[in-house]
Amino acid sequence: MQKKKFFNIAIVGLGNIGSYLFNFLNKNKNILSNKNNSNFNIVYVSAKNKNKKRNIKVKKTQWVKNYLDLVKKDNVDIIIELIGGAEGPAKKLVFSALKNKKHVVTANKSLISKYGDQLANIAEKNKVNLEFEAAVCGGVPIIRSLKEGLIANKISRIFGIFNGTSNYVLSSMDANKTNYKETIQNAINLGYAESNPSSDINGEDVAAKVKILSSLCFNSFLNQKIHIEGIKDVDDEDIKNANKLGYKIKLLGFSDYFQGKVYQRVHPTLVKKSSYIAGINGVLNAVILDGKPVGKNIIQGEGAGPSATTSALVSDISSIMRGNIKFPFSISNSKRKKISSGDISKLYFSSYIRLKVKDKYGVLSAVTKIFSDNKVSIKRVLQSPYKNKNSSSIIIITHSSRDSDIKKTLKTLVKKSYIIQKPKLLRIEND
Ligand SMILES: NC(=O)c1ccc[n+]([C@@H]2O[C@H](COP(=O)([O-])OP(=O)(O)OC[C@H]3O[C@@H](n4cnc5c(N)ncnc54)[C@H](OP(=O)(O)O)[C@@H]3O)[C@@H](O)[C@H]2O)c1
Repeated sequence: MQKKKFFNIAIVGLGNIGSYLFNFLNKNKNILSNKNNSNFNIVYVSAKNKNKKRNIKVKKTQWVKNYLDLVKKDNVDIIIELIGGAEGPAKKLVFSALKNKKHVVTANKSLISKYGDQLANIAEKNKVNLEFEAAVCGGVPIIRSLKEGLIANKISRIFGIFNGTSNYVLSSMDANKTNYKETIQNAINLGYAESNPSSDINGEDVAAKVKILSSLCFNSFLNQKIHIEGIKDVDDEDIKNANKLGYKIKLLGFSDYFQGKVYQRVHPTLVKKSSYIAGINGVLNAVILDGKPVGKNIIQGEGAGPSATTSALVSDISSIMRGNIKFPFSISNSKRKKISSGDISKLYFSSYIRLKVKDKYGVLSAVTKIFSDNKVSIKRVLQSPYKNKNSSSIIIITHSSRDSDIKKTLKTLVKKSYIIQKPKLLRIEND
């Protein structure tokens, strides 16, 4: 066994995550030093407002006013960026830390999904680590698993629930029979959603994670092309219908690689009640992948929050302390590939379509004719009149059909005078 090494750590950002990590590292110094055969010390911290009340005890000598000064200090080995955001201070800090040969640990998915390729290049050139386990699915150790435990595998697909807030909202709507508006407000009140939860709800947060996972799975550069739909148009009626038909609705992220192209997408999806993913409720995340030779692999856990995120951050810090210098995206930048993106319109899905129509003779046969004219074959139809409204709802489940044909069908339907409301489309996942 080598002699124990010593690492000086600086934490920038002392909010939800930074302050929890600060306390955790101090409390668990001995056990972590023993496990990693290295000692460490939090030598500096920095945040925006020195006078802010925090539940951590920072010594006068630890506080650094300008976080950028840290990158020049000889007695700093690891900089932990916990500010957030793809631009501004987080970007400045991480770029200049790596340029100054400091190891970097970050929980920042926005930054990594946008600038990860450039950052990895600098890290590799300067032989330092850029670690971002906490940027994807909090406490679920998917990045380390892809880089180490599953290194043998050729991966063809990765998908799952990558956002705890949207999963909480959808599962609460289902369990409590509430509508979207009241559920999101409740989630904010309970602290399961930020006061502005837009990136969780509109699919952007999942999209950033899908991009990072795709790169790791397929040995490619980050690919910015991704189809994104959030959950704000899923309403209680869809959840009720899904239940009737034997499904649950989940916001899923997918990345599939076939015939030399990567297909990245995020959208609310109907999954069979009996499937594994249908049982992942509340703030939990789950990642499912298909690899050769391992087969199907599933990891699940808490996707956010200070404790789960700290678990991931400490795994990154420990990896650095063990001297485990790795390529940030698993292989050298010089060996990563540019993979072109495939378009969702070319993929085949079974779909759920909800139409609100005028309740009159001949509408159902007119609707089904439009489906067949557009080469979309129907598997199941449910028609139920709305009470006292002279209108009815038609739910159609299609056989597997090309996404572009489904879209053409909806485009034709929307022009018909008997259609009262924009048709609703949700794709079905049968995996
Ligand atoms: N929260 C989660 O559950 C979670 C889960 C996974 C990953 N993450 C990621 O972890 C990171 C931190 O998240 P968080 O929830 O801890 O955020 P947060 O509570 O908003 O904390 C952000 C911190 O950054 C500091 N900061 C802001 N602007 C700064 C500047 N110009 N210079 C120096 N410091 C600045 C703030 O300083 P003040 O305290 O002085 O205002 C604050 O301490 C983000 O990248 C986030 O995406 C969060």
